[in-house]
Amino acid sequence: MSDALDRAEDARQRGASIGPGTLLWGRLDLVRPELVTIGRGCQIAPEAIVLCHGSPDGWQPVTIGDYVYVGLRAVILPGAVIGDDVVIGAGAVVPRARPIPPRVVAAGNPARVVRQRTPEEITEFRRKMARWQPDAA
Ligand SMILES: CC(C)(COP(=O)(O)OP(=O)(O)OC[C@H]1O[C@@H](n2cnc3c(N)ncnc32)[C@H](O)[C@@H]1OP(=O)(O)O)[C@@H](O)C(=O)NCCC(=O)NCCS
Repeated sequence: MSDALDRAEDARQRGASIGPGTLLWGRLDLVRPELVTIGRGCQIAPEAIVLCHGSPDGWQPVTIGDYVYVGLRAVILPGAVIGDDVVIGAGAVVPRARPIPPRVVAAGNPARVVRQRTPEEITEFRRKMARWQPDAA
């Protein structure tokens, strides 16, 4: 886990906004790090990527909420917005045109809501991720 915490810290040092306790296994587009916002207690799985460029409109910020799980090989496209307590499925593609609301599981290309998450699931994930947040209340 320390590798993933170190990667998140490295991205913070470069200017990305990443909350405490976020585990970064995947990749961030850090050519313009100020465009990347990820909340606390998230996990970005291996081979997932967050992109801020490559849109016909140029650079676009990406905003990922708190306690979000981004699955293996997911692609978060420029301008995407993902709410708190979301799970993004493996291989999903999340475009700007389809903001993901809080507390859902979303999957596919383009990512669509496949179900709501239960309060129990959300509490359990938050509890699990709290251990990586030394400053957690
Ligand atoms: C998205 C995910 C969390 C859904 O889990 P779940 O809530 O148990 O959902 P289900 O398996 O019951 O599937 C619900 C629906 O979503 C679809 N679905 C699930 N995962 C999907 C995915 N990754 N891509 C596309 N569709 C997916 C299912 O086909 C099903 O659709 P249907 O009802 O039309 O048949 C899970 O499938 C997933 O992708 N987890 C990420 C795993 C991962 O990346 N691990 C990283 C380890 S390092």
